[in-house]
Amino acid sequence: MSRSSDRFETLALKGVGHQFRAGGELVPTIAGVDLEVGRSEFVTVVGPSGCGKSTLFNLAAGLLRPTAGQVKVNGEPLEGTNPYVAYMFQQAALLEWRDVLGNVVLGQEFLGMPKGEARAAAMEGLAEFGLSGFERRRAWELSGGMRQRVALLRTYLTQRELLLLDEPFGALDALTRLQMQQFLLDRWQRDQRTVIFITHDVDEALLLGDRVIVLAPRPTYVLATVEVGFERPRNAEEVLRAPEFTELKTQMLEMLVVDSESEVEPDGSANGSGPGRPAEAERSARQDAGSGE
Ligand SMILES: Nc1ncnc2c1ncn2[C@@H]1O[C@H](COP(=O)(O)OP(=O)(O)O)[C@@H](O)[C@H]1O
Ligand SMILES: [Mg+2]
Repeated sequence: MSRSSDRFETLALKGVGHQFRAGGELVPTIAGVDLEVGRSEFVTVVGPSGCGKSTLFNLAAGLLRPTAGQVKVNGEPLEGTNPYVAYMFQQAALLEWRDVLGNVVLGQEFLGMPKGEARAAAMEGLAEFGLSGFERRRAWELSGGMRQRVALLRTYLTQRELLLLDEPFGALDALTRLQMQQFLLDRWQRDQRTVIFITHDVDEALLLGDRVIVLAPRPTYVLATVEVGFERPRNAEEVLRAPEFTELKTQMLEMLVVDSESEVEPDGSANGSGPGRPAEAERSARQDAGSGE
């Protein structure tokens, strides 16, 4: 891929559609998605389970090819895998037979980083991620929150600019989840690497994102884009208590519920949906609280 710069600037999905071939049948997953994410943005993506969120990430990472439209990186069509992406998969697997350090350096090993260098960076990261002293613990000895921290650190250490995080805190209990959300907010504040974060949790989407992309049920399209104006740095507990938060949450839940009631047929197909529909269906909700950014 030819690029004018070696730095990540933009990811753009232009009319991206996708169908799986299952047996002899074509199963449409993405009806048509337009989305642009620029450097240092923190974008969250929320949508019902099975709507095609992980499929969208696979398209953005270049692991799947769209069956319609185009994925562009820095303005150029993506061929092969996306060189800027650090991808934390939905079931972020740790290798149970490796210890914490061994799991953390895995991403760097894949990128061919020299062992000593990888280790030094990992030790620094472990301290920063609150995992010092756990280097030699086996993966199976860790709590759920620690496992996710190890997987997140592994993703961060690849030094890639565009972090694709697929429901990283989905399996955590409420308190651990809140701690991890605050941790991620603080971490973003430091290096402001671009994050696209998938969740099925409306609270989480609003708490973390500058912008929330609300997806329709499968085959999905962008139902709405919600600008979130809460100032950064963010304190999770303060944001969750803000009246503006409750307002936005109510709006978003209405969109999701109305859509799932009126649009989806029993066979999972959406009424009259197709690549032409997203633009007119798209609503935009804005709020002026916070920085107004
Ligand atoms: N390899 C595959 N072949 C066929 N269908 C698939 C495949 N992977 C996922 N699907 C289907 O595509 C839809 C979207 O999946 P996915 O992107 O994982 O949804 P989400 O992440 O939003 O829960 C689901 O209905 C799922 O069953
Ligand atoms: Mg998924």
